[in-house]
Amino acid sequence: MSPLDNPHGALDAVLRPIEKATGLPNEAYTSDEYFTRERDAVFARSWAGLWFASDLPKKGYVKPVEFMGLPLVILRNKQDEIRVFHNVCSHRGMILVHDEMEVQGALRCRYHSWSYSLDGELKGTPHFGGIGQHRAEGFDPCAHGLKPVRTHVWMDVIFINLSGDAPPFDEYVRPLTGQWATFLGETGYGRMRSAFNGKGMEIAVASNWKLAVENYCESYHLPWIHPGLNTYSRLEDHYHIMYGDDFAGQGSLAYRPNDRVGSPLPRFPEWPQDRLEQAEYVSFYPNVLLGIQADHTFTMIVEPLGPARSNEHLRLYYVGDEAVGDEHAASRNATLESWRVVFNEDIDAVEGMQRGRRSPGYRGGVFSPFMDNPTHHFHQWVARKLVAA
Ligand code: FES
Ligand SMILES: [Fe+2]
Repeated sequence: MSPLDNPHGALDAVLRPIEKATGLPNEAYTSDEYFTRERDAVFARSWAGLWFASDLPKKGYVKPVEFMGLPLVILRNKQDEIRVFHNVCSHRGMILVHDEMEVQGALRCRYHSWSYSLDGELKGTPHFGGIGQHRAEGFDPCAHGLKPVRTHVWMDVIFINLSGDAPPFDEYVRPLTGQWATFLGETGYGRMRSAFNGKGMEIAVASNWKLAVENYCESYHLPWIHPGLNTYSRLEDHYHIMYGDDFAGQGSLAYRPNDRVGSPLPRFPEWPQDRLEQAEYVSFYPNVLLGIQADHTFTMIVEPLGPARSNEHLRLYYVGDEAVGDEHAASRNATLESWRVVFNEDIDAVEGMQRGRRSPGYRGGVFSPFMDNPTHHFHQWVARKLVAA
């Protein structure tokens, strides 16, 4: 029997205090069955990151995506709102949107040409009641629109709650926004501008999504995996972050890259002057990795593709319109390149841990009660979701 068939037995060890805890079992990183269970018990019941709103720049923009095997479509409607629907036609279940595109009028199914508004209402059902009869007695089109997914956009991330019953987003995110009020103030979120210099970065990793999150939560590996970063932001300059139940990571008191070229980038006006070198790197569970610095932020959405395969999608954001102008292009490129080095250095670590999860010589490992606290926080979060399900 797999430890996951007896979740209380396997997960109790994760839920112990850190000194006595072990990590999630290897199956959590290798099994297809577990992957599907995790989609339904962990991702569906929380606010998961799906995509970036700024990648759908215009009204009528439509983008089909697969989320852990589920076909979804993201769109920007006529009111300029981001909406997400299950990407399946209500008639005979054909995939509705096949390609990313700009839609002028309605979404039209290519099978029997049923059409839907960008708010998901069923509009056209040609010949449904017989040749030339587009409606039929007893058929209520309102009951057959596209099935919406609960959605909220924050910091440019399109978050989805598939189960529909997670706490309201604003309430959910409050432990994080409460802490970040110090840095971003009232106006910070409204000032973030996506920079399309290369659209950020896309990284394919041969690793379970959780290993990307775990690695992001810790600074312990810094001296050995990131020797360059460690020259100015050293291990001893870091502190642990555990904000409420759903957010953990690490902060630095010495973020001052010494290899920047170009003009100084504008900073968040409310960021405290005596903390300009402070930066925070927080995992928004399950799969959104956020970084804030005084002059830019970044967001990585970890897209789980399978037990041992993920895509990491990174976008950078700068402070105000001026920051994304030509004048600051060199500084933005230098910033992106410095992160490219760091994130590429992490690939070897997460892929190596993934390979290690195939070893019967490893059974969840141990956590340092001094260095691995945020990682353990994340394991406990996953374990609690599985137990609750
Ligand atoms: S399946 Fe879409 S119109 Fe028939
Ligand atoms: Fe790292």
